[in-house]
Amino acid sequence: MGMFLPHIWTVLAVLTVLCTVSGSNICTSRGVGTCKECLSIHPSCSWCSQKDLGPSSSSVSRCNLKSILRQSGCKAEFIESLVSSYVVEENRPLSDRAQGMTGDITQIRPQRIRLTLRPDDPIYFTVTVRQVADYPVDLYYLMDLSYSMKDDLNILRSLGSALADAVGRTTSNLHMGFGAFVDKTLSPYMYMFPDQAISNPCLGINNTCSPQFGYKNVLSLTDQVNRFTEEVRKQQVSRNRDSPEGGLDAIMQAVVCKDIVGWRPDASHLLVFTTDATSHSALDGRISGLVQPNEGKCYVNNDIYTKTAVLDYPSIGLLADKLIENNINLIFAVTENVKPLYLNYSKLIPGTDVGTLSYNSSNVIQLILDAYANIRSKAELVVLGVPDELSLSFNATCLNGELIPGVKSCSGLKIGDTVSFSVEAKLRGCPKVKSHTFSIKPLGFKDTLQVTVDFACNCSCQDSAQPASPACHNGNGTLECGVCLCDPGRLGPQCECTEADYKPTDTASCKQSPDADICNGRGDCLCGQCSCHSKDFGKVWGKYCECDDFSCILSKGQLCSGHGDCVCGFCQCHPGWSGESCNCSTRTDTCMASTELLCSGRGECLCGACSCSLPGAYGATCEKCPTCPDSCTLKKDCVECKHYKRGPLFEKKGCNSAICRDEIQLVDELAFHEKSSVNCSYKDENDCINHFQYYEDISGKSILYLVKEPECPKGPDILVVVASVVGSIFLLGLAALLVWKLLITIHDRREFAKFEEERAKAKWEAANNPLYKGATTTFTNVAYRGNT
Ligand SMILES: *[C@@H]1O[C@H](CO)[C@@H](O)[C@H](O)[C@H]1NC(C)=O
Ligand SMILES: *[C@@H]1O[C@H](CO)[C@@H](O)[C@H](O)[C@H]1NC(C)=O
Ligand SMILES: *[C@@H]1O[C@H](CO)[C@@H](O)[C@H](O)[C@H]1NC(C)=O
Ligand SMILES: *[C@@H]1O[C@H](CO)[C@@H](O)[C@H](O)[C@H]1NC(C)=O
Ligand SMILES: *[C@@H]1O[C@H](CO)[C@@H](O)[C@H](O)[C@H]1NC(C)=O
Ligand SMILES: *[C@@H]1O[C@H](CO)[C@@H](O)[C@H](O)[C@H]1NC(C)=O
Ligand SMILES: *[C@@H]1O[C@H](CO)[C@@H](O)[C@H](O)[C@H]1NC(C)=O
Ligand SMILES: *[C@@H]1O[C@H](CO)[C@@H](O)[C@H](O)[C@H]1NC(C)=O
Repeated sequence: MGMFLPHIWTVLAVLTVLCTVSGSNICTSRGVGTCKECLSIHPSCSWCSQKDLGPSSSSVSRCNLKSILRQSGCKAEFIESLVSSYVVEENRPLSDRAQGMTGDITQIRPQRIRLTLRPDDPIYFTVTVRQVADYPVDLYYLMDLSYSMKDDLNILRSLGSALADAVGRTTSNLHMGFGAFVDKTLSPYMYMFPDQAISNPCLGINNTCSPQFGYKNVLSLTDQVNRFTEEVRKQQVSRNRDSPEGGLDAIMQAVVCKDIVGWRPDASHLLVFTTDATSHSALDGRISGLVQPNEGKCYVNNDIYTKTAVLDYPSIGLLADKLIENNINLIFAVTENVKPLYLNYSKLIPGTDVGTLSYNSSNVIQLILDAYANIRSKAELVVLGVPDELSLSFNATCLNGELIPGVKSCSGLKIGDTVSFSVEAKLRGCPKVKSHTFSIKPLGFKDTLQVTVDFACNCSCQDSAQPASPACHNGNGTLECGVCLCDPGRLGPQCECTEADYKPTDTASCKQSPDADICNGRGDCLCGQCSCHSKDFGKVWGKYCECDDFSCILSKGQLCSGHGDCVCGFCQCHPGWSGESCNCSTRTDTCMASTELLCSGRGECLCGACSCSLPGAYGATCEKCPTCPDSCTLKKDCVECKHYKRGPLFEKKGCNSAICRDEIQLVDELAFHEKSSVNCSYKDENDCINHFQYYEDISGKSILYLVKEPECPKGPDILVVVASVVGSIFLLGLAALLVWKLLITIHDRREFAKFEEERAKAKWEAANNPLYKGATTTFTNVAYRGNT
């Protein structure tokens, strides 16, 4: 438990400090003491070298944002704020053709630039490359003359002029040369017994051949191409003992002996290496006791390699360096059996090509032409001599204008095509030197871009530093850029204190609170001030060493998720990020569903991802939710669109839009599917009820099972209607007749009863003669029923 207590205190201390320091920024966060350190924090930081920063601003850090320094009264001439910049010093246009070598041929542009680089402040510039047509070509043929190449030599003798003709067709300016090699003239590579075998190694096989040699230059590069044929005719094979040959020795000498071989500076250099065997490489020389490594220097005298029996074979790495340095394209023309080995070498040596030589070399011309075309169809930038502190990155813009990030080569080019590369140069630290020059060049070209870098690491106020300045306590320090840099053994802002004054008891001013540790346990109290210990994983600073730049929250193995700066234990997130560990993106475009609703309206966009709140909703934008109330409505349109080819979605031609990625399956009736399914019904424009089921399987594939036959209302039966209408009319008539009959009958009965009554009365009243008729007669119309 006790172990955790100091940590808690540190956190509390950090909290208090953060609350009191306002306007803190990346420049002030580190608490740097010198102008040079300040400039290396961040490109936005400036330093004020003015002696007093004014009374109001004693709390302002000299290392700050430029605007803050100006506000707090620092005059413009005292503000050090370098920005990276560059000037193009030479920028000749690219040449179209190499017109008979008159004038300079330019294949890269610009040719010279000068960068002023401040740490971490990158500079971008563009390099353009064009392969010039009819560029001069130097072709040096390096041939294995071991015994197995006997037939190849015969063919080459007859091919000589054809070869010159063929290559001459690609350029009007061709130089050709010839060199040969066998192997080191030492046992066990060489036949040493009997003595005559040294002068005629073919002794044992009923033949004569020339003595073994390491490498010899037979014909230096020349424009008299017919001499090539002549010299080749004179050659004889030799013979060595083991299978691998000493080809790498020969390549090295042919590359580095520029003057002897006669490589022209303004030409394409092709070195054609033919062999049918593997090659010895570095350390193989130990078999014969050679321990001196090959240094990549020229040791050819009288056209013979003199150190063949002294130096070891060269390594592939050294060979690659020398080939690039001398702009030589190597073509391995090798037989099928050894091709895999040379393909492997080719991967390690940029700008090389491998061709398959037939066993008698009859295809050598085509092979050279193909390899040359292959090499010339590529433009690859190489960087020579760049210092460790400088990082370069490239983007290529090749033929179709498409940007290929992180690539510094283009292929598939024709002569005359122009490609460009954008280069970012960024300084990661400060080298010891003030400036450095390196070059960028297309592989195999002599043209280069010379880049001179001035490292803007120092402040200009450093030049006017005053050693033993009176301002620094009687000359006990140097006044540089407005601050005292104390002499060894002295401390304090004005160097007013000596280390000898250090009193272990007087530590109150080094404690943040009376019971805190001295300098929070992360520094020493010297002259009443904390001198913080630096840690392997970062810096500790602050008056009480309470701040550091490494104890921020780690997320995904990175401090502040890599999206923020760790300032005094807390992450300060870069724009676009938030959260305690800056792992929360503030973007919302990732939450936008295809329906143009954030999270389909079924959840919230948190840290750039949807958090679906509606039960049953899932998917990156909560777009999947079979059981959501509105899913039937949504999918209804899909059914209408996909199956019936009608509805609002169909009119918008949206049947295959993102919300309708469903497959429609017709079924006789709906089946049971456990979860993630919902039964839907709707009434369509014909008043038919459609039933379908929206179902999603585990893989997220969604299927709409649609019942084949919609339920439609049955059409009314005409016959029944007619019959019932007729029937009801008939019945009504019948009823009316019956009622009439009834009334008549009742009335008749009453009249008859009355008559009978009258007749009975007449017996008693003579006056009441029934035959008597009055003057008036009353008729009753029985059919009359009133006006009802
Ligand atoms: C050398 O020639 C002789 C006859 O002239 C023959 O018998 C022998 O086999 C040959 N040796 C080789 C190695 O070819
Ligand atoms: C070439 O390299 C591959 C892998 O790097 C290796 O497996 C293979 O054996 C090599 N071939 C030869 C001939 O060295
Ligand atoms: C070389 O070899 C090829 C087969 O590999 C054959 O077709 C051709 O005729 C040979 N050429 C000569 C000149 O021997
Ligand atoms: C290369 O392209 C990427 C974006 O595709 C860009 O961020 C980078 O800055 C570019 N680099 C150069 C050197 O232009
Ligand atoms: C910066 O200045 C220091 C001395 O103040 C000097 O040793 C160093 O070489 C300078 N560096 C550059 C890149 O100017
Ligand atoms: C440093 O300061 C002391 C007084 O504290 C003074 O005696 C000494 O001369 C100073 N040293 C230098 C190099 O000026
Ligand atoms: C961010 O990191 C915290 C822990 O530091 C974690 O709980 C949270 O889930 C992370 N958020 C995201 C979006 O990765
Ligand atoms: C859908 O209807 C079918 C057939 O009536 C039934 O078996 C199934 O349980 C219903 N599904 C849901 C989710 O109600």
